[in-house]
Amino acid sequence: MPKPDFKKIGLLTSGGDAPGMNAAIRAIVRTAIHHSIRVVGIKRGFDGLLQGDILDLESEEVSDIVYRGGTILKTARCAEMHTPEGQEKAANICKILNLDALFVIGGNGSIAGGLSLSKLGVNVICLPGTIDLDLDCSEYTIGFDTAVNTGMEAISKLKDTSSSHQRCSIIEVMGRYKGFIALWCGIVGGAEEVVLPEEDATTNQNQVIEQILANRSKGKLHNMIVVAEGVGDAAALAQKIEKATGIATRATILGHLQRGGNPTALDRMWASTMGYEAVELYVQGGRNRVMVVKDGVCANVDIEEGLNFKRPYDEKNYRMMKILAL
Ligand code: F6P
Repeated sequence: MPKPDFKKIGLLTSGGDAPGMNAAIRAIVRTAIHHSIRVVGIKRGFDGLLQGDILDLESEEVSDIVYRGGTILKTARCAEMHTPEGQEKAANICKILNLDALFVIGGNGSIAGGLSLSKLGVNVICLPGTIDLDLDCSEYTIGFDTAVNTGMEAISKLKDTSSSHQRCSIIEVMGRYKGFIALWCGIVGGAEEVVLPEEDATTNQNQVIEQILANRSKGKLHNMIVVAEGVGDAAALAQKIEKATGIATRATILGHLQRGGNPTALDRMWASTMGYEAVELYVQGGRNRVMVVKDGVCANVDIEEGLNFKRPYDEKNYRMMKILAL
């Protein structure tokens, strides 16, 4: 069968950076080169696309990056891509650049940007890159594991000081509107409670206070509570706990530390697999798809269907956390 005439693909990272994005870039570039496809890197996400800020990506450009956090392509949040004019302009630039496809690595907002371009005739292939794990159509998003590991290490360190002072520690972790990072950090860090946006905030906070008092009455000398940023205001919760229990309480907001650091093996593995599979999919004629993990394996779905997919909140892990914290 004659080889189709593949020419050039564009590649950008967009939205919040996530550890593992570089591993995905490397996998896309190397797999494309394997298929004799030219890769154009676009700097600073859709912002850079609108400015025509591009560079050729050869194999050397992606050497020594599999272990590095951040994104060598840089990233940005681009307000203009939320406007029809901006989307039209970006689609035209893809045409002027003669891109046969645009590969987008990013979270919900970036994938929505990709969808808008696909509706204007650009073939878009997306990879889920966000620490938040908040893309319902995928069981995994690149960066999540590293962020959870960072949270877990922070909890261990906080436990040292919190147990020395017999205090209560509140740690606020990222996750935007979802509580995945918080719940996982709570389980793997051995927290007593987690406060999630998926649960009723007031009930949840009252339960936290009851749990702290119950554990103290059993002889526990320090406490560890994880709060998702989607619930917010760890400092206010710390004050509420201190007032209600009389226990000295300190709040720590982990913030952007969770977005940095060398990606874990799991993040590098999924990023490499999704990058490789994304190019293979494109070579086989895939159009307007988002790479996902489904039933534990790499798969892909239509971008619009993927964005509309709603996964019900899985209370199982929350129940497990409660039991393990008893
Ligand atoms: O989506 C990743 C994320 O780190 C969220 O967890 C957080 O809410 C947001 O980005 C922070 O965004 P920014 O870096 O633009 O402040």
